[in-house]
Amino acid sequence: MNNTIPRISIKGLHKRFDDKIILDGADLDIMPGQSTTVIGMSGTGKSVLIKCILGLIKPDAGEILIDGENWLALPEHEQLQRMQRVGMLFQGAALFDSLSVWENVSFALLRRGLSQTKAKERAIEVLEWVGLHSIEDKVPSELSGGMAKRVGLARTICHKPDIVFFDEPTTGLDPIMSDVINKLIVRLHKDSGTTILSITHDMKSAAMISDHIALLCHGRVHRQIPANELDSDQDPMLRQFIEGKAEGPINCSIWGKQIEEAIQR
Ligand SMILES: Nc1ncnc2c1ncn2[C@@H]1O[C@H](COP(=O)(O)OP(=O)(O)O)[C@@H](O)[C@H]1O
Ligand SMILES: [Mg+2]
Repeated sequence: MNNTIPRISIKGLHKRFDDKIILDGADLDIMPGQSTTVIGMSGTGKSVLIKCILGLIKPDAGEILIDGENWLALPEHEQLQRMQRVGMLFQGAALFDSLSVWENVSFALLRRGLSQTKAKERAIEVLEWVGLHSIEDKVPSELSGGMAKRVGLARTICHKPDIVFFDEPTTGLDPIMSDVINKLIVRLHKDSGTTILSITHDMKSAAMISDHIALLCHGRVHRQIPANELDSDQDPMLRQFIEGKAEGPINCSIWGKQIEEAIQR
């Protein structure tokens, strides 16, 4: 593999819903083996960005290249084949209620025709990797939030994807469970060299799990920097976001009215 070609390259991505412009020419490159986190205010289009890459939302314009190839332009069976390289952890873990934990974890492998015995063995192995033991026969309703998230993480990586997306991996978790999840993501990145694209508004998590940070703002990736420059970077928008200030160059006009109304209430 030519290491000068980005694993993921997003070029001029546009997406609007009715008259609301969400992505307005977003560009982002992620090199193989990099762990990049896109940060930005709630509602700025971080999840929309990931959904566009996964083909769940059709962008209005722009290109998404994986290893230089436009997956979404491929015939459907080739798209599906390529997608086997991908793992995705959705914000709410999104486990299937009617399946056992192990069936959830090895879902992709079962769909590929792996035998039940082998799929269960692999599920147990990955569950142990995320620190969960003897829960393979439980159902999702028996799990705590932190356990469900770890089962979701196990499902994300069970088929050994080389590209993984994390949507708000720590949102809704207590600080200790957030730390557990962050550490597992770091371990995944270090052990397997997986290319990771995460999105979050949790700066502690972003700093911990990524080697690059990209700020999504006003529909574009406004700034992309190595994570170790987060504290020293003086970009005004980045500083405003990191320091959590309502005043500054980030235009909150889309939400401004609601914010003003909320303050006055
Ligand atoms: N399928 C959809 N239809 C209409 N609006 C949507 C849809 N998906 C997302 N949006 C809107 O796009 C904006 C960005 O959403 P999202 O990407 O989920 O934000 P976040 O940065 O918090 O992940 C929000 O205002 C949201 O309401
Ligand atoms: Mg989101």
